[in-house]
Amino acid sequence: MYFESKIDKRVQKVKAIFDLKRLLEINADKNYIKKYYAVSGIFYSLFHSSDFIHMGISRDGRYKRSDLLEAVRVIEKKAENFKNADVLELATGRGANSFYLAKKFPEFEFFGVDISKEQLNHAYNKQKKAPNYHPDLGDFHNLSKFKDNTFELVFVIESLCHSTNKQKVLKEAGRVLKKGGLFIVIDGYLNTPGTTENEKIAVKLTAAGMALKGFEHYKIFVKKAVKTGFKVLSEEDATECVLPTMKWFEFLAKCFFYYTWLGKFISKIFPKEFIYNALSGYFLAELTKKKIFTYMITVLKK
Ligand SMILES: C[S@@+](CC[C@H](N)C(=O)[O-])C[C@H]1O[C@@H](n2cnc3c(N)ncnc32)[C@H](O)[C@@H]1O
Repeated sequence: MYFESKIDKRVQKVKAIFDLKRLLEINADKNYIKKYYAVSGIFYSLFHSSDFIHMGISRDGRYKRSDLLEAVRVIEKKAENFKNADVLELATGRGANSFYLAKKFPEFEFFGVDISKEQLNHAYNKQKKAPNYHPDLGDFHNLSKFKDNTFELVFVIESLCHSTNKQKVLKEAGRVLKKGGLFIVIDGYLNTPGTTENEKIAVKLTAAGMALKGFEHYKIFVKKAVKTGFKVLSEEDATECVLPTMKWFEFLAKCFFYYTWLGKFISKIFPKEFIYNALSGYFLAELTKKKIFTYMITVLKK
């Protein structure tokens, strides 16, 4: 006998509101990513955080606002091992991570790049209050504005997933790092591709909803890092810790999908790049519970 899973039911709900074929054809290229962050900013500010555009790491299994700081606390602990260091944040977003660190380590210099002007506007405001934080427009695939062997620490939080050429980013991070320097990557990945047709569809919809071309398998990412010359210093599976944030996103998405007419109506009013966030919220927690997704804190050493 065939039992419809939550994911099966949700894929049907999505089909009732959207044209599934069109959703599966979304091309999350650089322009799409920029537009996504330009129009989704208000969503993050209203429903999540006006500063941190990443999930909380809730080590006690319950979401608190302070859990949004946990990713940057991981970076802080590693930074404590350096003196007067230069640190680079890839995809610095609204600058909350580097701003926090710049206050903690006033003798360090923090640099940040991001492709979204809208996100960076928030970072520039923070820069006024932290003279040792220097955010700038830039693509993490090309760090040519920085010389070889410049930084003690490079880090990236929930952003490398946007890249379809992680090898290039790893190479650039390796080039600008000093020998013995650390590259810390905190991000979500695919653990298994999903077994049923609808699970595979749900993975694609979740990626598209967050302006990703797809999710990379964690083991493949690590292989690329090692191939680039990095040593894997530590790996922490923090999947369970991000579930509380995912459940909040799921709650919001369920409200959107509850009445088909309402979902259709809202979809007509707001930009699609903003509305598609609901797809990620709808599936992410469920796919994570099924161990299809994993969330990893990876510390690489040059
Ligand atoms: C989910 S947000 C995370 C922002 C920040 N790291 C944080 O933790 O709050 C992802 C960020 O990645 C940036 N991004 C995406 N692709 C990028 C690229 N190729 N180069 C630089 N930044 C990029 C986006 O503009 C966005 O600010």
